[in-house]
Amino acid sequence: WGRKPFISGNWKLNPQTRDEAVKLAADIAATVTPESPDADVALFVPYVFIEAAQKSAGDRLFVGAEGVCPEIKGAFTGAVSATMLKSLGVQWALAGHSERRVIFGESDEYINGQCLKLIEQGMSVMLCIGESEAEYEQNLAGPVCAVQLRKGLAGITAEQMSRVAIAYEPVWAIGTGKVATPEIAQSVHATCRGILRDMYGDAIADQTRILYGGSVTPESVDGLMAQPDIDGALVGGASLDAAKFGRIINFQ
Ligand code: G3H
Repeated sequence: WGRKPFISGNWKLNPQTRDEAVKLAADIAATVTPESPDADVALFVPYVFIEAAQKSAGDRLFVGAEGVCPEIKGAFTGAVSATMLKSLGVQWALAGHSERRVIFGESDEYINGQCLKLIEQGMSVMLCIGESEAEYEQNLAGPVCAVQLRKGLAGITAEQMSRVAIAYEPVWAIGTGKVATPEIAQSVHATCRGILRDMYGDAIADQTRILYGGSVTPESVDGLMAQPDIDGALVGGASLDAAKFGRIINFQ
């Protein structure tokens, strides 16, 4: 379908100092070489490290934000707006990560607001979706992803979908070492693409990149990337190790 692979790292609440962030971004950028697969590469980093990581990584990868406020300005203490990020040259931000949903209580409506604000500003969003372990055990991965996709993407037009990527991250696989098998991930990715097909039609469904996230490692990336509906990876823990993440960027 000609979808360009998309390998991305999510640093979460890491690393602990600016100097470490500068070094990690530089070391990761150095793994993106002319021999690397033709893929988009992004690092989602804490707000405070964005500018330093941008300088350090140069133009080999996108430095994105781990979130955004669904409001543009006003009395929202502690928030960061899409316009602020745009002014730094940020093009990509995450929305809907399960840690934001569960720990910070972000609802589908809030997440939809984040997506809309980023798109309105001409930016791009990686919408994260995924079922909990209990939902997985009850065979609810498909229905849960359907609700999160439909609510997260509400109001986003077919034309705007070129600036949306989806990250399927089963919560039971995040940070647990329990990576979904390529077959399980492929099956849910195909379901998600079917939902996009229903929402937006064949062309948009076939062009939208759906990344897998959840304990991706150098050992598991190749098998995942070989699946027809897996277009990339959103990597947590392994993105904090330049050698490991470099191997993931250079998947085979
Ligand atoms: O956003 C990334 C995911 O939460 C995956 O994290 O690779 O540490 O399991 P992980």
